[in-house]
Amino acid sequence: MTATIISILNMKGGVGKTTVTTNISVELFNRNKRVLVIDVDPQFNSTQTLMKFFEKKLDTYFDLRDEDKTLARVFKSTNQSRGIGNSKTVATKASEASIIHTLSSNSLGGVLDIIPGDMGLIVDITDAASDKFRSFIKKNHLKDNYDYILIDCPPTWGQLTSVALSTSDYYLIPTNLDEFSTIGITLLAELLSDKVNSVDKPLKNLGVVYMFLKQNTAEDGIARDQKRFRNDIEAYFTDTMEKLVDSKVRPFDTVFYSDNYLITKSALYFDETIEKHRPDYKQKVCDLVDEIQNRLSEGSSKK
Ligand SMILES: Nc1ncnc2c1ncn2[C@@H]1O[C@H](COP(=O)(O)OP(=O)(O)OP(=O)(O)O)[C@@H](O)[C@H]1O
Ligand SMILES: [Mg+2]
Repeated sequence: MTATIISILNMKGGVGKTTVTTNISVELFNRNKRVLVIDVDPQFNSTQTLMKFFEKKLDTYFDLRDEDKTLARVFKSTNQSRGIGNSKTVATKASEASIIHTLSSNSLGGVLDIIPGDMGLIVDITDAASDKFRSFIKKNHLKDNYDYILIDCPPTWGQLTSVALSTSDYYLIPTNLDEFSTIGITLLAELLSDKVNSVDKPLKNLGVVYMFLKQNTAEDGIARDQKRFRNDIEAYFTDTMEKLVDSKVRPFDTVFYSDNYLITKSALYFDETIEKHRPDYKQKVCDLVDEIQNRLSEGSSKK
């Protein structure tokens, strides 16, 4: 088994990174895959979403955090104990591998694990972070243990995103279709271009997924005023971005619509109340995962 590592990223906030990460992780697990979610965002929304869904509460998270079993652990220079005002270096009892927390597993080999995010990621991160993260993945044989490793990135371009991309095979971009999102993608493409050229292994675009669009009944499912942005952005993909990032940049056919009911709810479409309200959203996740798996198998047959 060699895991495919996929970062879900966009510098823009609230575009659906966590929604995509958590939903596809659950769907891949439902397909009996071995899946690890790494929550690189200090807001740790993926951790909250998945823990609430599988464990019905967040208490476990705070226990794990108190025991130093979050991603922040990987980036600490030494095994420092957590605690305000405590600058002494004290060895923690837990092994580094114990930050991997199992959310669910099934008898057909499927597993869904998470490395919880942590607010401490804002301070613990240093220049050596990418090396530490890569060595953590290697030492713990994560590539051998999973089919998919999904990394939910923060809404900024900084060390944490850089860390995520430095280990990733692919990145997937969720975006809205509006003025700021279009500008955001062009800025993101410039930064990705530098990154792609600085990493020593292929880093490819897996696709762009249009999120939270206006519900529409037109044949192509895109509202008229959003079509303009889609046309602009797709022209940019083919004319400019593909050269910048040395990779095809293709939108997925599956798009997600905005639903007011969901704005204040969990982003997980497998949640019972959401499923009751919008059963079609779970189907969309299945469609997206079909597309992702197809693209990945195309990619591997080319190698
Ligand atoms: N179909 C939907 N319609 C409307 N809102 C939705 C839908 N699905 C999810 N949401 C909500 O949209 C908000 C933003 O989504 P999400 O958290 O996935 O974005 P994000 O890019 O991860 O944000 P951040 O940049 O803060 O990490 C969340 O509050 C989520 O619950
Ligand atoms: Mg998020």
